[in-house]
Amino acid sequence: VQTDIPPVKDTLPFQVGAAISRAQTIGGHGELLTRHFDSVTPGNALKWDATEPREGEFTFDEADHLVAYAADHGLRFRGHTLAWHSQTPAWVFKDGDRDLTATPADKALLLGRLENHIRTVAGRYKGRIQTWDVVNEVVDENQPDGMRRSPWFQVTGYDFIRTAFRVAREVDPAAKLVINDYNTEFPRKRQALYNLVRKLKAEGVPIDAVGHQLHVNIERPPASEIEKTIETFAALGVDQQVTELDVSVYTDFVSSYTTVPEAVLAEQGHRYKEIFDVFRRQAARLSSVTVWGLADDDTWLSTFPITRLNPPLLFDDELQAKPAYWGVVDPARLP
Ligand code: G3I
Repeated sequence: VQTDIPPVKDTLPFQVGAAISRAQTIGGHGELLTRHFDSVTPGNALKWDATEPREGEFTFDEADHLVAYAADHGLRFRGHTLAWHSQTPAWVFKDGDRDLTATPADKALLLGRLENHIRTVAGRYKGRIQTWDVVNEVVDENQPDGMRRSPWFQVTGYDFIRTAFRVAREVDPAAKLVINDYNTEFPRKRQALYNLVRKLKAEGVPIDAVGHQLHVNIERPPASEIEKTIETFAALGVDQQVTELDVSVYTDFVSSYTTVPEAVLAEQGHRYKEIFDVFRRQAARLSSVTVWGLADDDTWLSTFPITRLNPPLLFDDELQAKPAYWGVVDPARLP
C-alpha cells in the first residue's frame, strides 16, 4: 500500500466510505481501507439473506466481525439494508407453500416478520451502527404512483416503509435513518422519490436522509443532473448521502475490453473530478460519500450486467492509486 499519497478522507469535507466484505479487512486491503476511508458499508453482510436465512434463525458472523473491526479502527458504520425486495429469502413472502402476495389479507403476518427482523438486527448493533439504509429501492418511476411493485408493496402498500422506519427509530434512536435508491439523478426517478419522501415526511415517518446510490458511467448522467438532484432534495430539509458510487468504464451493456486503455482510465479520472466538484460544492447538504468497493479487484460490475473487465473504483487490482483517485484527491495530478 502506498504511504506517500494523501489519505482520501483528509481531502474531503464529508465522511468518505467504502463498501466492504470480510476480505477487505485483511492484509493490504485492511491497510488501504483504514488509511483512506472513515466509514464502511457491508456490501452484503447485513442483508436479509445473510442475517435471517430461515425464520427466526439469525446469523451474524460476518456482520459481527465487520462491526467490531470498524469500532477497533475508528470507522463509522453504515448498515445496509433492512428492507429490500432483492436478497430476501423466499420464506419471507410465504406461509408454508402459500404465496403471501396472492393474499394481501396476510399483511399483518408480513409486517410482523419485518418488525421482528428489524428489532433483532438493528437492536443487536444499537449504538454501533451510525446510519441505516432502512428501505432500499422502493421507487419505480414507471408506475402511476411511482412505487415499485415489490412483494412488500403488493401486500402492505406503504405500510412496510412506515413500519420499517418506526421500528428502526424505536430500537436505535440515535441512528440516522435513510431511504436509499438508484438512478435518483434521472429526472423522472428523482421526482418519484421526491414525492414519496415529501408524503412520508408529512405523515411524520422518521426519515433523516435520502441516499443516492450513484452507479454511473464515464459519460452519463451529466454531473449537472447529479447536482440538480442534491439541490432538489435540499428543499425537503433532509440530510443526503451518496451511498454506492462507482464509475463504469462502459457506456453500454455489451462492450468489453481485454485491457482497459490508459486513455479511458484518464477519462474516468476526469469524470471522478467533475462528480467530486459537485460534492464539494454541495458539501453542506451531504454528510457522506461512499464508493461501492475498496479496489478494482472486487466489484459487482465485473459480473453485472455481463462478465467483463470493469475497473470502476479509486484503486486498481494491486491497490495502487488510479487517475480516479487523483481526480478526487488532487486533480492537478490527473493525466
Ligand atoms: O456468497 C456467494 C458465494 O458463496 C458463491 O460462491 C458466489 C457464486 O456466485 O456467490 C456469492 O454471493 C454473491 C454475493 O454478491 C457475494 O459476493 C451473489 O451471488 C451476488 O449476487 C451478490 O451480489 C451482490 C448484489 O448486490 C446482489 O444484489 C453484490 O455483491 C453487491 O455489491 C450488490 O450491491 C447492491 C446494493 O446492495 C444495492 N444497490 C445496488 C448494488 C449493486 O448491485
